Amino acid sequence: MNIAVAQSGGPTAAINASLLGVYREAKRSGKVDKVYGALNGIEGVIDDRLVILNEKLDTPEKEELLRQTPSTVLGSCRRKLPAPEIATDVYERIFGVFAKYEIGAFFYIGGNDSMDTIDKLSQYGEMTGSMIRFVGVPKTIDNDLLFTDHTPGFGSAAKYVAATVQEIIRDSSVYALDSVTIVEVMGRNAGWLTASLCVLKAIGEEAPHLIYLPERPFKVSDFISDINEVRQTRRAVVVAVSEGIRLDFEDHADDGRHQVLDGFGHVGQMAGAGKALERVVRRELGIKVRAIELNVMQRCSSHIASLTDITEAEEIGAAAVNAALSGETGVMMTIERLSDEPYRVRYSQTKLHGVAGLEKKFPTEWINDEGNGVKDEAIKYFFPLIQGEVPIRYENGLPRHFKL
Ligand code: F6P
Repeated sequence: MNIAVAQSGGPTAAINASLLGVYREAKRSGKVDKVYGALNGIEGVIDDRLVILNEKLDTPEKEELLRQTPSTVLGSCRRKLPAPEIATDVYERIFGVFAKYEIGAFFYIGGNDSMDTIDKLSQYGEMTGSMIRFVGVPKTIDNDLLFTDHTPGFGSAAKYVAATVQEIIRDSSVYALDSVTIVEVMGRNAGWLTASLCVLKAIGEEAPHLIYLPERPFKVSDFISDINEVRQTRRAVVVAVSEGIRLDFEDHADDGRHQVLDGFGHVGQMAGAGKALERVVRRELGIKVRAIELNVMQRCSSHIASLTDITEAEEIGAAAVNAALSGETGVMMTIERLSDEPYRVRYSQTKLHGVAGLEKKFPTEWINDEGNGVKDEAIKYFFPLIQGEVPIRYENGLPRHFKL
């Protein structure tokens, strides 16, 4: 049989490693003829835009480059499919394309919205007696998928964010001046990535002095008094805020944030919390203040990717192929943590229905009582995920990327 694979949702540094895992394991199994890649996620299937990966990845060197290339080499989408029982047209089209290419299994690498897509495909397949197997491969820097210890892509993002904030900390304290540096970190409605900055404590950093997550209500007046408290002993205050915090401004229109909705009806780009708080600090405290939005760099920087993350991303892609070949369908692959030290995991699967569209929040018991910091207990969860460095191939002093 042939198989098809697609990538969906926000990019990560590890999503191409999962694609490679699917591709290599399919080849290794000897049971798969062609591996098709759909361009721009499910949209590429709907519009019949498929490429034969066996032709694109025709040398071992290209495979290696794919692993170190960030973002989604096949392109992505944020397209919500209608319920399978009410709008069959789009499903007839998708299953028609699957039939045309003799697809026996479809793999969708994505986050919680993407799991909604593959769940619906699997439901339609069941309704119509299709033999195609549907397997979700998790990925997201937000780390907000249920039933998996963590998501591929998160460890690399956490390593980049921690390494970058460490550099920002060095920069923030060069002048003998009072200052506030606010770093805004991605993560939508879940504070995992922002919270992961607690790992800096393990290497002796005091900062970020304050960490704010969307899991706790945010009060601007408390934020200012928290900063003043830190200023009693420190001149250069470093603050980490999740993009998902809700600002309690009286005039909400004034928080300056973009409110563009994506195909799933979620706020796409949430960015702007840091800049809004920069204005508050300038107005209230009148000291030097700078907001830094890490923006897309935190999800597409692969030059400091975590080896643990990239390895797991490839392995879970391979595990997905084995699951499908052994008859599994309607499932998302998961990572189960067996131990922290030594760090050991095993790959398993869970029914798609339980994860699709739902969010796993950062545990509130790991947030301090004041709601402005992360407890040390969380460090042992994050630490294994950022370990190891990926050997990168360079050309003319720059990392090489694979392009289709
Ligand atoms: O879903 C991952 C993510 O990177 C979030 O952290 C972020 O809020 C969102 O995507 C940004 O959306 P877009 O890809 O549309 O810019």
